[in-house]
Amino acid sequence: MKVAVLYGGTSKEREVSLSTGKGMIQALEQLDHDVMAIDFDPNQMEQLWKQLMQVDLVLIGLHGKQGEDGTVQGMLELMGVPYVGSGVLASSLAMDKSKAKQVFAMHDIPVARSQSFHYKESREDMIHSIKATFTKPFVIKPNQEGSTLGLTIVESDEQIADAVQMAFTHDSDIIVEDYVSGRELTVSVLGNKGDEQALPIIEIVPKSKYYDYESKYAEGGSEHIVPAEISEELTETIQHYANQAHRALGCETYSRVDFILSEVHGPVILEVNTLPGMTPTSLYPDAAGAVGISYTEMVQLFIDLSLE
Ligand code: DAL
Ligand code: MG
Repeated sequence: MKVAVLYGGTSKEREVSLSTGKGMIQALEQLDHDVMAIDFDPNQMEQLWKQLMQVDLVLIGLHGKQGEDGTVQGMLELMGVPYVGSGVLASSLAMDKSKAKQVFAMHDIPVARSQSFHYKESREDMIHSIKATFTKPFVIKPNQEGSTLGLTIVESDEQIADAVQMAFTHDSDIIVEDYVSGRELTVSVLGNKGDEQALPIIEIVPKSKYYDYESKYAEGGSEHIVPAEISEELTETIQHYANQAHRALGCETYSRVDFILSEVHGPVILEVNTLPGMTPTSLYPDAAGAVGISYTEMVQLFIDLSLE
């Protein structure tokens, strides 16, 4: 089978995507597929179109904007080229943290309280409203971004203006959210909509205070405990929420659902990643490994599920 891997791209998660793509390309080579590795460049559409028209299937190894947000999926839909993973709507919904939270709440999945702001709103009113609504620490982040880029955990009033400014450099909309302290858990979901299956829960123990960009991608930056050491009952509840979230957004084939387990509030969903990282330090391949699925087998499973 002739399979293209779209990776790299122009988003701020390009470096992560290069590593994800490399993993996918190696797996496809081991599986003896005919691999076409394409560093995605939206400025070279004609060339890209020509290359993609030759393949049977596309694996999307991109992260962030112009990759994970439904735009590339839309292009592939227009071209009539089959691809692995979530479609246009699920991808863009998951990327929009604020809209996705509304969908989760409608499905009774616990979310942290939040408020959204657009860059055209008065900065003064915005800061005033943030101060009046949130108790420190709280989170300010771009509405659409990944890998904790542009995110600040605000611990003093003096940080607010800079945190708002930084989040706006990533997106025209930002989201301010209660900071829920607790254990970092993540659930990898495998399967198509309606037939999804949550893999074992992973607890992430970052070496630094927060699970930031560095602890996500530096070798040894965090420890993954799989399966997470939590009660059976809680495991079932969180896996149920993960499946619900995957289904509610309409995800296909694979996604990774991030949670905080708070002592006060119980599990709280953070987000669904429709194209989770597949780097050597990534969580999804670890969860698959915990049920005996190697990285290579996982890639083949994705292909099989996509062709169902
Ligand atoms: N956004 C990164 C790639 C992840 O969620 O794994
Ligand atoms: Mg993410």
